[in-house]
Amino acid sequence: MRPFALADAPAVQRLAGAAAVAEMTLNIPHPYDDGMAEAWIATLDEAWRAGTAVTFAITTATDGLCDTVSLRITRVHDRGELGYWIGQPFWGRGYATEAVRAVLAFAFDTLALHRVQASHLPRNPASGRVMQKVGMEREGLHRGRYRKGAIYEDVEEYAILRSDWDARVD
Ligand SMILES: CC(C)(COP(=O)(O)OP(=O)(O)OC[C@H]1O[C@@H](n2cnc3c(N)ncnc32)[C@H](O)[C@@H]1OP(=O)(O)O)[C@@H](O)C(=O)NCCC(=O)NCCS
Repeated sequence: MRPFALADAPAVQRLAGAAAVAEMTLNIPHPYDDGMAEAWIATLDEAWRAGTAVTFAITTATDGLCDTVSLRITRVHDRGELGYWIGQPFWGRGYATEAVRAVLAFAFDTLALHRVQASHLPRNPASGRVMQKVGMEREGLHRGRYRKGAIYEDVEEYAILRSDWDARVD
């Protein structure tokens, strides 16, 4: 896991640009045009310096960039919100689970957050499974919480508290 660099932009455009990734996320544009990845990467350092978000590039020695996990931070509440996507060629290898678990460790052990939450579309049970595997608890269904294009989307809400994290046995 490392910070993004501008050199990652072509891989971000290729992987985040897949329709299957955009379909399951709320804020990844589709089509993913030239320049969008560079513009997104250029925001990340400032967000980290401001303490409002941290975003990790997840790589392997053989495949290079595979996925992204970000944590938006609301310091006044010591709360984080996870977002993540895995490049489609790398689905089903446990990468999301491993990366999210590592970011939770960072959130609780380094950033000293109290709560980390995440949400997924009901048609994306694989993401819900990732949340369950890392010890997050389902808190409910928020109806019509976000608009994605012309559709108001329901989302399943999950969260984990610092006390849950400290009590985990994995
Ligand atoms: C959802 C996503 C993050 C999963 O990444 P991944 O690296 O394949 O996830 P993992 O391999 O760590 O774990 C996936 C789990 O979901 C399960 N799963 C896969 N498809 C499933 C389905 N249709 N229904 C239920 N569970 C499913 C897998 O079996 C696995 O669970 P297991 O280990 O208990 O068998 C990835 O598919 C992705 O990035 N999708 C597009 C973007 C996205 O959805 N981002 C998250 C937005 S909330």
